[in-house]
Amino acid sequence: MMLPERVRLVEVGPRDGLQNETQPISLEDKVRLVNDLTDTGLDYIEVGSFVSPKWVPQMAGSSDLFLKISKRAGITYSALTPNMMGFEAALNVGVKEIAIFAAASESFSQRNINCSINESLQRFKPVMEAARQHGISVRGYVSCVLGCPYEGDITPDQVLSVARELIDMGCREISLGDTIGIGTPGAVRTLIGKLSQEIPCDRLAVHFHDTYGQALANIYAALLEGVSVVDSSVAGLGGCPYATGASGNVATEDVLYMLNGLGIQTGVDLSRLIAAGQRICEVLGRDTGSRVAKAFK
Ligand code: HMG
Ligand code: MG
Repeated sequence: MMLPERVRLVEVGPRDGLQNETQPISLEDKVRLVNDLTDTGLDYIEVGSFVSPKWVPQMAGSSDLFLKISKRAGITYSALTPNMMGFEAALNVGVKEIAIFAAASESFSQRNINCSINESLQRFKPVMEAARQHGISVRGYVSCVLGCPYEGDITPDQVLSVARELIDMGCREISLGDTIGIGTPGAVRTLIGKLSQEIPCDRLAVHFHDTYGQALANIYAALLEGVSVVDSSVAGLGGCPYATGASGNVATEDVLYMLNGLGIQTGVDLSRLIAAGQRICEVLGRDTGSRVAKAFK
């Protein structure tokens, strides 16, 4: 198996990393985080989400955030939009790529977006249509691809059926979310092997939370299967409000260190990334979740 020559790192820290934070984080601190990340060489930053503020209060300022960040040409600044209301809000502040999010597990779908998988897919259809009309590209997430906090095991077939629908609707890429970080590398290879029978690997991304410490091994397994887009969160921030106990995403610094060691190009500067992580950790008053950032201290 060949490793890719280049990997695209999708930085989800400002959204997935911060969405679960209960302490207030000022708009200025969020702006600085996104601007710091912009300076690292990353070309994809998920800035926020246009969801109900009652459900995820920390993301309530996403419109202001989009208006205040210094956008640089060549970088995609994206946001989650679960429905038309979110889409309209994103459109109003000039978002060029949105993400819709479904789950491979019925229970997680209910807890996360208050509807069944099928209802969510129906709800995404007008969003897809509106996105097409406005020339906005769409990324699709599937959560709980390697296990669900409420249902336990999830089969590759369950994942495939949702991923296929999202692709058929027009999603540019599918990000496979191990929401609770429960998967191991063999399961990752089986899952991607199954999906890639129908969906080309260049339209798949992996999104690992690191709850069980498996994320780097899982990413390596995914790279061996031909995936070359990896989601991660600076300083390993985050967790999902609807998956109790789920820890943050794998730390971007740790992924980058591994990719650098493998000779895989990303265009991202490790020392700038570590500095960005340190600054947001100071704001949050907490230690970094990145082993690499700790080792470089
Ligand atoms: P609902 O309560 O069924 O929706 O929630 P509703 O349409 O009945 O609306 C209820 C209220 O929310 C109304 O306000 C709406 O106006 C408002 P009220 O009349 O009560 O004052 N509302 C909105 N406000 C702002 N923006 C909107 C919006 N939509 C409705 N877009 C809904 C359904 C989907 C809205 C809700 O469940 C929700 O917002 N869920 C978001 C959950 C979320 O953000 N989860 C975290 C992201 S997913 C994730 O982390 C996983 C991922 O990282 C991958 C992985 O790790 O697996 C992506
Ligand atoms: Mg996530």
